[in-house]
Amino acid sequence: MQNSRDHFGSQFGVLVAVAGSAVGLGNFWRFPYLVGTYGGAAFIIVYILFVLFLCLPIMFSEFVIGRRSQSNALGAFKKLAPGTGWWGIGILCVAASFAILSFYCVIGGWTIEYMYQSVIGGFSADSVVQNQHFTDFSTSPFRPILWHLVFLGMSAFIVVAGIKNGIEKYAKILMPILLVMIIFIAVRVLFLPGASQGVSFLFRPDFSKITGQSLLAALGQAFFSLSLGMGCIITYASYVKKEESIVKLGTYSSFADLGFAMLAGLAIMPAVFAFGISPSEGPSLVFVTLPLIFAQLPLGNIFAFVFFASLLIAAITSSISLIEVVTAYFTEELKVSRRLSVAITSAVVVVTGSLSALSFGVLKEVKIFGKGFFDMFDYLASNILLPIGGLLIVIFIGWVLSKSAVKEELSSGGRYKVPIFGVVMFILKFVAPVAIALIFLNSLGFLKLF
Ligand code: PFF
Repeated sequence: MQNSRDHFGSQFGVLVAVAGSAVGLGNFWRFPYLVGTYGGAAFIIVYILFVLFLCLPIMFSEFVIGRRSQSNALGAFKKLAPGTGWWGIGILCVAASFAILSFYCVIGGWTIEYMYQSVIGGFSADSVVQNQHFTDFSTSPFRPILWHLVFLGMSAFIVVAGIKNGIEKYAKILMPILLVMIIFIAVRVLFLPGASQGVSFLFRPDFSKITGQSLLAALGQAFFSLSLGMGCIITYASYVKKEESIVKLGTYSSFADLGFAMLAGLAIMPAVFAFGISPSEGPSLVFVTLPLIFAQLPLGNIFAFVFFASLLIAAITSSISLIEVVTAYFTEELKVSRRLSVAITSAVVVVTGSLSALSFGVLKEVKIFGKGFFDMFDYLASNILLPIGGLLIVIFIGWVLSKSAVKEELSSGGRYKVPIFGVVMFILKFVAPVAIALIFLNSLGFLKLF
């Protein structure tokens, strides 16, 4: 029996919505530059191992919590562990959503500016000029804010429409388009002379490059990329019907995220090598070096437009999941209408996002704990809230919720066999808590591993 909450209408709908949340700027903007910085194929192998052996069980945990409770990220813990303080995780989730939205929407806005620049032919093949373009734009007090508002407005519009008629409907349209567009770019790039060097960088591992630092970077990236540790999957899973197999859904969406990360690598790395750019360029890789590359290609503006449109789609299907975490909390716990919940969430992000956008220019000198607003929100979410949230979620499933409840949920009330149950529980009880605690302590600088 389903309750009166909105639900995803089909298994494909859930799949594209969860994959839509996972596939985002993390795949297209962050993954390629981390691969570039941490040594290519060796980093990718470590990343894949983390996704399979650590993140997949955590993904299942969030599905269990959400689907079993049919509640928002805070209500879920109130229902599953009444009278305890575990609902505090929900507060962390809501805080993490706000923190991520505050910088994510700014980069989402940048992708719209870059689409606009592709249309007006604004990219230069001269690296000094292109660098200056990026600096002028990112430090301007007006355009980044405008585009961030447009991006936020588009995301809010989708979330207001609800789960089935908003999030699911748009994910079903946008995710297949994203797949086609990114394959289009990857194929074009693979035909560039010199591309093979980039491909071998992606596929020929040099294990001497693996260090403690790269292991931790891979683990952190896997978390962020799969939208884990902050109630996002819990919230989406709460709209999944009881008869769906959550093991299947979790596995497929994680593989989709991995697949898109590889495609993003294939679309970007060979181009970087073909034009003799350093793959370890860092966060500016996508926004500075790619326009430079596109400006040198015949019909480059078309490819640039498609590429930045892909980034925009990937970013929107993720930002809606972040807004939904807060919206579900407001509507269910504070009994506010969906429309008002989205309005309040957006109003907050208008302010915090603008502060982030301005921290590249006008507010450059304003520092909180030594960081500008953009970096502070990113650091707060990725290095503090997400690891704590993830750690608590894993402990909750491994040690608090009864084993039979976890099994019942994973098997969808006995409908499906879960042959890997023992392994999953072992990872959740012992391996995951230790691994997450290590990333957390390391990122705070309390531990220097290797
Ligand atoms: N997974 C998204 C990405 O890779 O860009 C980012 C993200 C979305 C993180 C939703 C967390 C989240 F809840």
